[in-house]
Amino acid sequence: MAESQKIKELISSERIAARITELGAEIAADYSGKELVLVGVLKGSFLFMADLARAIPGHDVLIDFLGLASYGDASNSSGVVQITADLTKPIAGKHVLIVEDIVDTGLTMEYLLENLRTRHPASVRLCSLLHKPERAVKQVQIDYLGFTVPDLFVVGYGLDYAQRYRNLPFIGVLE
Ligand code: IMP
Repeated sequence: MAESQKIKELISSERIAARITELGAEIAADYSGKELVLVGVLKGSFLFMADLARAIPGHDVLIDFLGLASYGDASNSSGVVQITADLTKPIAGKHVLIVEDIVDTGLTMEYLLENLRTRHPASVRLCSLLHKPERAVKQVQIDYLGFTVPDLFVVGYGLDYAQRYRNLPFIGVLE
């Protein structure tokens, strides 16, 4: 097994679960009577998507995913984004909620929001588990936000460093 770096817990799994319950209730109320397409951004959102979807029980929800690769090094996005896996169904006329792990510079979400709007959904909003406002280059509106985090590189609960740590049940900081 590779040697593990030490990770300091920043947001516990209990706090994540409690916040997702609140977000789910808010989303269910806002989209009451409407079919909703949750669009998870791979890979970082896979755990958040699984828990958020289960926090909207009894709601008419469709699940889809897309894959994005943003050019840059392990911890910095360049703003040049590539769709590595596209949605499996058209979203024209649908209410779309993007489910993202973290908005850092905002460059990735600015690209995705623009791209999805060209497909003529009825609406498109953004739900992000985390936001790092100190790093913002583009101001993107986050309609549903889990937590604001300081300017530190965070891992766990879906987020990686060089593809590792996604399976941690909490959000932590590499020391
Ligand atoms: P942005 O385009 O700078 O907003 O970055 C978006 C993507 O960079 C996120 O979806 C993450 O995949 C990745 N990212 C940004 N900050 C972090 C971090 O602190 N930990 C892990 N991944 C991050």
